[in-house]
Order: sequence, then C-alpha cells, then structure tokens
Amino acid sequence: MLFKQQALLRQKLFVLGSLAIGSLLYLVARVGSLDRLQPLCPIDGRFGPRSQDEIPLRALQFKRGLLHEFRKGNATKEQIQLHNLVQQLPKAIIIGVRKGGTRALLEMLNLHPAVVKASQEIHFFDNDENYAKGIEWYRKKMPFSYPHQITIEKSPAYFITEEVPERIYKMNSSIKLLIIVREPTTRAISDYTQVLEGKERKNKTYYKFEKLAIDPNTCEVNTKYKAVRTSIYTKHLERWLKYFPIEQFHIVDGDRLITEPLPELQLVEKFLNLPPRISQYNLYFNATRGFYCLRFNIVFNKCLAGSKGRIHPEVDSSVITKLRKFFHPFNQKFYQIIGRTFNWP
Ligand code: A3P
Repeated sequence: MLFKQQALLRQKLFVLGSLAIGSLLYLVARVGSLDRLQPLCPIDGRFGPRSQDEIPLRALQFKRGLLHEFRKGNATKEQIQLHNLVQQLPKAIIIGVRKGGTRALLEMLNLHPAVVKASQEIHFFDNDENYAKGIEWYRKKMPFSYPHQITIEKSPAYFITEEVPERIYKMNSSIKLLIIVREPTTRAISDYTQVLEGKERKNKTYYKFEKLAIDPNTCEVNTKYKAVRTSIYTKHLERWLKYFPIEQFHIVDGDRLITEPLPELQLVEKFLNLPPRISQYNLYFNATRGFYCLRFNIVFNKCLAGSKGRIHPEVDSSVITKLRKFFHPFNQKFYQIIGRTFNWP
C-alpha cells in the first residue's frame, strides 16, 4: 500500500516537474523569439498608441526586410493586417525640379527609418487622366508603411505644371513641399542631355543645345525652349505661393547634394521634423560612379542608376555666358523669396 502511494507521488512529481521544465523552456523560447521578432512587430501595437509627433525608429535592416517584401507584393492581406500596415497619402512631396537631383534626394531621404518612399513617379496631379481617377487611386499607389512613418513621393513635373498647386492644396493644405534646384544653366543642359539621349536611343537626330537655347532671329535666349523656362525657378515658385506660404517649402541645393550630401539631408530632416538619423555611414563616395552612393547596412548598399550622372555635351562658352546673364535677375528674385542664396554666377 505504502509502496503504491510512493509510486503515485513519484508519478505526480514527475508530471509536475515536466510541466515546470516545459513552461520554463517555453518562456525561454518565447523571450528569444520576441527578441528576434522585435524588428518585425509594429511598436505601436506592442506599447499602446503614441502621440503623432513621436516617431518610433527602427533599424534600417528592418526597412530592407519586411517593408521591402511588402513593396515587392510578396505579402498576404493577413500579414498586412497583422503588421498594421497602411497606404498613406504623402506628408511631403518632392515637386521638382526636373534634373535637380530629385531621385538622389528621394533615395537618400529613404535612408531615414521614418520615411517610406513611393518608388515610381506617380504623376497624379499633373496628369489630367490620372487626376480624374481620384484621391483613392493616388493613395493606393502609395507604398505600405506604419501609421507613424511618413510617405514621400516625387514627380518633378509638378513644379512647372499650372494646375498642380491648387490640386495639391485641395488634398492637403499643410503638406510639406521640397524643391531641389541646381545652377539653372547646368540644369538646362542636363535636361537637354536627357532628351538627347532619348532621341539617340531611337536613332533620331536632334538639334544642338546652342540652337535650341538661343533664338536665331534675335540672338537672345529662347524663352520658348522648355529647358530654359524650367530653370526660371522664381516664375514657377511664385505660382505656388498663391496657394502655400513660403514656410511650407524647403529648397535643397542640388549642386551641394552631389558634392556634400549629408548637410543638405540634415536640413531636410529638420524641415520634416524628423529626428536626425541619416549619418555619414549611410553615404559613401564611389569613385567609379563619381557620386555618393547609399549604404543601408553592412550588406546592402546601392548607387543610383546610370541614367543619373550623364556626361553633358560640350556647350559653346558664349552661350553659357548668355544664359547665365539671362538667369541672373531671376536668381536674385528667387534668393530673395526663399531667404537662401546659392553660389550661382
Ligand atoms: P546629371 O545627369 O545631369 O549629372 P533627377 O533625378 O532630378 O533627374 O536629377 C538627376 C541629377 O541628379 C543628375 O544630373 C546628377 O548630377 C544628380 N545627382 C545628385 N546626386 C546624385 C547621386 N548621388 N548619384 C547620381 N546622380 C546624382
């Protein structure tokens, strides 16, 4: 009898012991997996709601991980819901200027863990057909992000398209607007170079830059030439100012973004009220490319495509001088409006 009771007790102790060890093992495993999962879990969900200005910052590896998969479309509806991901309208837009360095700016800002970029140019506000599809169509074009992150898109045609300021205003009158500019003559030549390359690709011939930029009848600068008109920054900005106060714009020095990107990016972080997170580590000079490239982490880095940083054709120096003289008064006005000067001739 006593022997039977002892055996029963031993059996009970064994079951209890197994349960205790099992629980302990489960806890250890759970804590371990939580640690590993941490970068994947929406911080909001785990620690309760946050105030709007508080932006939880994740490791950059995270952005290359889960969000990247979502962006590639490798995600199910359930995963999207589970991670509380949303497609948000942009809180900031790079509205231009074409060939100012818009792609470099967007990609570099995307290094910030609180920024999510729309990879493609959406052309919602400048294209009547797209605009007619409505704001939900636009929102659905945006990448997935966490609610506390900000989405940024860039469509350089916005800056010069007449209808765009009013349309953006109607969507969000307090949106932040980024404009990246380069020395106007260099920008015009870069613009020409892009069009020239397109023609050459189609085996078409094209005029020389000099012929397009100078009116052969008057020998003056041809203001009908789009590449020239786009570089009269003040004219375009003045149209925008009918809708938005100057405080809602930030002007990026595109020439400096090429040679010294970090301080320009730090100014943008400040303008967007983002904590400074982009560092020199994220930007390294690639001598072969002749440009700064992006380092996300120890394994992932990238340079911009070869279509960025083309070799410009040689342009007659008298034409360059004429163009610089032409742009000078417009530049002065531009500096006055934006409260910043550039080293343009
Ligand atoms: P060029 O091709 O004339 O050199 P956008 O993206 O608005 O089309 O601007 C293109 C310009 O971005 C390029 O003009 C290039 O000079 C500039 N740029 C700035 N930073 C760059 C970078 N890190 N890599 C490549 N191009 C860069």
